[in-house]
Amino acid sequence: MGIDIDELAKRLETQVLEDARGVFSEMVIEYAYNPRNVGEISNADGVGKITGTCGDTVQIQIRVEDGRISESRFMTDGCGTSIACGSMLTEMIEDKTIEEALMISSDDLLRSLDGLPDEYVHCSVLAVNVLREAIADYRELRPDKQT
Ligand code: FES
Repeated sequence: MGIDIDELAKRLETQVLEDARGVFSEMVIEYAYNPRNVGEISNADGVGKITGTCGDTVQIQIRVEDGRISESRFMTDGCGTSIACGSMLTEMIEDKTIEEALMISSDDLLRSLDGLPDEYVHCSVLAVNVLREAIADYRELRPDKQT
């Protein structure tokens, strides 16, 4: 009897998704499985990259035009939650001024994701810290662009 690998993969994926649904909000699953703004920006105006205590690294890059974040991208080698956090956070900062982006807290990110299990809250803190580092990098790198 042959094994249908595609069928098996589909069943596994469904199982993983069902398991995830018991733990994570629909919003987290949506943003983890359909990530937004993944990748890198060439000649970014600011880059933040931090390895958290969990050992996962998150990077966020921003482009700033007329004092607003016109583009951002993230990369992570971390958990599904870090993908959801990077996806959501890069959407949240779209078209925000630097000051507005700096005011986004990990609680704001948690609320946007409809919450996270306690053991994954640190992933949202990491994402926000990476954004703050990207903004600090922007401020240092691009004094010419500051208003
Ligand atoms: Fe490391 Fe989520 S467990 S970022």
